[in-house]
Amino acid sequence: KKVAIGVDIGGTNTAIGVVDELGNVVAKGNISTRTDGDVDRYVDDLSSAIHELINSVKLLNPEIEIQGIGIGAPNANYYAGTIEYAANLAFKGVVPLVKLLKLKFPELKAISMTNDANAAAIGEMIYGGAVGMKNFVMYTLGTGVGSGIVVNGDLVYGDDGFAGECGHTTLIPGGRLCGCGALGHFEAYCSAPGMKRTAFELLVKYNATDSLLADKSFNELDSKMIFDAAERGDKVANEVFEQTGKWLGQGFADTAHHLSPEAIFLFGGPTAAGDYIFKPAKESMEKHLLTSFKNKIQILPSQLKPGDAAIVGASALVYQELNKM
Ligand code: BGC
Ligand code: NA
Repeated sequence: KKVAIGVDIGGTNTAIGVVDELGNVVAKGNISTRTDGDVDRYVDDLSSAIHELINSVKLLNPEIEIQGIGIGAPNANYYAGTIEYAANLAFKGVVPLVKLLKLKFPELKAISMTNDANAAAIGEMIYGGAVGMKNFVMYTLGTGVGSGIVVNGDLVYGDDGFAGECGHTTLIPGGRLCGCGALGHFEAYCSAPGMKRTAFELLVKYNATDSLLADKSFNELDSKMIFDAAERGDKVANEVFEQTGKWLGQGFADTAHHLSPEAIFLFGGPTAAGDYIFKPAKESMEKHLLTSFKNKIQILPSQLKPGDAAIVGASALVYQELNKM
């Protein structure tokens, strides 16, 4: 039985999965994404965890064959196998992760890496709600905002391998500071921390001491709390979703005008708020669209299991690579 290792590198956690050819996660592991920026120790941690996971799976299924390792990571370059100048990771500069892992797993044929949102798009395309779709865009809302663009059935990498960084388009000129150092990027408004910043701005604006969010510190607040407060009729929380939805829709309309996709998929914690976020996003997108684009583009929740999408997508990268060999 063939399996591949999928690795999803996030700001705080790295999820590792053993995934079969049908996209089922057979076993899972987790390590912390080091916050001290020590690449060598991170590669050690990661390869030990992968070895451990492989061993535990082989114990139960001695017949399995590991095909390779696929990785999804922020600011990853598929062509070079590097993570470069990540906005929300502690690793500095250019990290040649694929090269370093090849030294640890010389027996594996395919080790490759793509952007985390690209991996989610590949997962959606092969195993999720985008099966059969030729043109769609995946947006991931988390610590950052990522995107994966699929045109004519292929993931778009562009000339240098970084295509699809929609989180770093400018939403508000001169606006909030983004994790990458620029001002006013989409990510600074529509990521999970961006939503928290909106909540805090509104609390101040309305001097809303009676809001359910008023006594929360920035660190304890999360999108789930904002959702719960919105459901209990909290004015600030409701406005956070309204406002975030408007911004999302504005960005989606731009993306739609560039690419004319069949659908835009949303993935990540804030999407659990359902209509609180999808409804204003849809309304806003329609408002910004050219007439010829109106009422055609769907905004859909990812059909992949939260937590698994990037692992599954990253593992699918391995099969794509093997097909190319
Ligand atoms: C990075 C992207 C990444 C996204 C989500 C952004 O800040 O630039 O590469 O896909 O965060 O992790
Ligand atoms: Na991307």
